[in-house]
Amino acid sequence: MISIRNITKRYGGGSASILAVDGVSLEVGAGEVLGFLGPNGAGKSTTMKMVTGFLTPTSGTAVVCGRDVVEDPVGVKSAIGYLPEGAPNYPDMTARSFLDFIARVRGLSGAEKKRKVDAVVERVHIGGVLRQPIETLSKGFKRRVGLAQAMLHDPPVLILDEPTDGLDPNQKHEVRHVIRAMADRGDSGRAVVLSTHILEEVEAICTRAVIIAKGRVLVDGTPAQLRAMSKYHNAVSVTLVPPINAAGEPVNLAGELATMKWVAEVEDQGVRHVPVSPAGPGGPRQSCTLLAKGGRPLLADVTSLAKSRGWTIETVSVEAGRLDDVFRELTQKEHVRAGGAA
Ligand SMILES: Nc1ncnc2c1ncn2[C@@H]1O[C@H](COP(=O)(O)OP(=O)(O)OP(=O)(O)O)[C@@H](O)[C@H]1O
Ligand SMILES: [Mg+2]
Repeated sequence: MISIRNITKRYGGGSASILAVDGVSLEVGAGEVLGFLGPNGAGKSTTMKMVTGFLTPTSGTAVVCGRDVVEDPVGVKSAIGYLPEGAPNYPDMTARSFLDFIARVRGLSGAEKKRKVDAVVERVHIGGVLRQPIETLSKGFKRRVGLAQAMLHDPPVLILDEPTDGLDPNQKHEVRHVIRAMADRGDSGRAVVLSTHILEEVEAICTRAVIIAKGRVLVDGTPAQLRAMSKYHNAVSVTLVPPINAAGEPVNLAGELATMKWVAEVEDQGVRHVPVSPAGPGGPRQSCTLLAKGGRPLLADVTSLAKSRGWTIETVSVEAGRLDDVFRELTQKEHVRAGGAA
């Protein structure tokens, strides 16, 4: 539904020009919710502005529902609902008159217009603020009015620039639910592209994630594929009851765990003493996270080592990997590389 083809944007000219987007190519299909991630200034908003026809690419193009944004920006706009960064324009309009205005621009009138405006007002819970001028709304309500405007005409493609920025936790949850439901509609699945800095949002609603930095795509994959790139992929966190040495002290097992064949690194959380409780006996506990070489499964080796040494395992869990870790690793490496080259 969306095909971004080698799109590039250079702001300004001469030596002071900024290459904000540098040859981005992506395909997004029906039913997909693509999370667009990247550090501040990575080029996310600029890419979205070009795909939605609000900014002309320096080169390359995007095709949305078969319409080329360079040749037919108006055609593309009719297929897209777009939530830009920040608050909606027209600060003196009330939320109600703003939505009515957008509905008319979208070609809606009469009973259909009323039905669609009412439906979207209900969806993003703004019934209580419809009479207020937009400039007097709180940040979260401005954001909700912006979302209502984007979803009003039930478009096949939604481009949402930080849709949950500034929302309270209830609204974040609600808006994620609405976005997911928009993409899922069995018969007529929609394509959604959203930018976010909240990695938990990617886990919660995105079927795919793209990380960009300095205007270039660094990775493109499912959240599970991204997590598998983390050094914590298949890491085992274990809490053991350590043995007591001749001096009556608990033995720190981190060193022994580190000698296991497929352990790359041990994060030692140390030995702590737990008091006796109804949950179990008190005494020393050793906690460690074992990072796996090449993400190999470690659990069986950990349990068999503990068994052979007679250590009691109190808790053990396996991690899928951490998106924040992958994000930092990729984007900071990029930062160092680019800085080194300068
Ligand atoms: N109108 C403009 N004129 C000049 N440079 C711009 C303009 N808009 C954006 N830029 C620059 O382009 C680069 C990309 O900005 P963009 O807003 O696309 O980043 P972003 O990924 O959306 O960042 P954020 O996470 O902070 O929203 C930045 O270096 C920014 O300063
Ligand atoms: Mg932005």
